[in-house]
Amino acid sequence: MSDSRSARFPEGFLWGAATSAYQVEGSPLADGAGPSIWQRFTHTPGNTFESQTGDVACDHYRRYPEDVRLMREMGLQAYRFSLAWGRILPEGRGRVNPAGLGFYDRLVDELLKDGIRPMVTLYHWDLPAALDDQGGWLNRDIAGWFADYAGVAFKALGDRVDLWATLNEPWVVVDGGYLYGVHAPGHRSRFEAPLASHNLLRAHGAAVRAFRAGAHAGQVGLVVNLEPKDPATSSPEDVAAAERSDAYMNHQYLDPVFKGAYPQALRDIFGEAWPEFPAADFDVIREPIDFLGINYYTRGVMKHDPERPPVRASHVQVPGRPYTAIPWEVSPESFLRVILWVRERYGNIPIYVTENGAAFADPDHVRDGRVEDPQRVEYYREHLMACREAIRRGVDVRGYFAWSLMDNFEWSAGYSKRFGLIHVDFETQARTPKDSARFYGEVIRTHGEALGDSQIEA
Ligand code: FCB
Repeated sequence: MSDSRSARFPEGFLWGAATSAYQVEGSPLADGAGPSIWQRFTHTPGNTFESQTGDVACDHYRRYPEDVRLMREMGLQAYRFSLAWGRILPEGRGRVNPAGLGFYDRLVDELLKDGIRPMVTLYHWDLPAALDDQGGWLNRDIAGWFADYAGVAFKALGDRVDLWATLNEPWVVVDGGYLYGVHAPGHRSRFEAPLASHNLLRAHGAAVRAFRAGAHAGQVGLVVNLEPKDPATSSPEDVAAAERSDAYMNHQYLDPVFKGAYPQALRDIFGEAWPEFPAADFDVIREPIDFLGINYYTRGVMKHDPERPPVRASHVQVPGRPYTAIPWEVSPESFLRVILWVRERYGNIPIYVTENGAAFADPDHVRDGRVEDPQRVEYYREHLMACREAIRRGVDVRGYFAWSLMDNFEWSAGYSKRFGLIHVDFETQARTPKDSARFYGEVIRTHGEALGDSQIEA
């Protein structure tokens, strides 16, 4: 790459950063909001690191003007955030709470005032507890509940928000919440998992239909997390374990949305726990979407593990490879691979990278107003290079959102894992942009030239 212009991203490429409601807002019950399943889960001791909760988090609910100012100073063009369903509909359905809606109204206006385009996620895991009491994602009625809630949000914000994501990472909702119990609502059932997955997909499709029915301007899509799955060894057992993991994580949600059917492999994995679903459901599920949001963090190296049903696979660490603090392997080439794979399997749908980033053990203290995070800078450099390479190969990648705008409540890991471009001191709520924020700002300012012109190969 000698021509410096080719180091640039396409005109109009959208540069952003992301958060989610429960992870940053705090004040989860303020102004008449109904509690969510994460409120309950975190207030049950032992479920999270040091039983930490999102009660305060980054206090974004009250400090959003400062946060928007920091976004502007970084040069962000877009901010992806989620709505807390229970702020808007305290019981999950029925009565709308204007005070809760008011927060998002003010946030959107504040963003637009600074020229920052909002991308709104309708569901980032914080189901109203009142709906969980009626079965939550296991109740087929939830597709209608979700579509009604989506309709309220489209109507209230659709005049100013033109990028909408229905669900964030249905795979994590189910794997964490219904199969292994490490996320809210903390169930462990291989019988429930396929039902929850299916109802999430039906809810997604019903919300897309509500968007179309309202004739809203803008685009609506689904956000999934994807990980290439590689076998730990070339043994047939490990190869089969990687294939099962791939079907379970990468095909389970995209095949129904783009092809209208689940892969056969899921029936084999879940066995007697896999139900027959009504054929008509797939008409709703495959309602065409305008874009696919991809969250990418790592690849999975899998070995056969009979102790871990139903997929019977577990992760191994590869000696000599770099890992983040989670620990997830740093593998930018797998990021390129997964974007190319989406086009190959599902066609050239417009893509937004809706999350990508890394937790590292940053220095505890801000020194001279600075937080040095060289590993995160390197992570972003390499992954943005992978993204640029996908675009060079003709994939329609339209934007990129760093995870995360700021350090926040990392679910069951509490505040122990920091993903932010901006450091948050959780004692004082002081914000300090890290070196990675400056680097990302420079990348945005130069349309990618600041990445240099070396290349990532798949
Ligand atoms: C993703 C989630 C996001 C954050 C990152 C680290 O799975 O969507 O909320 O926790 O992981």
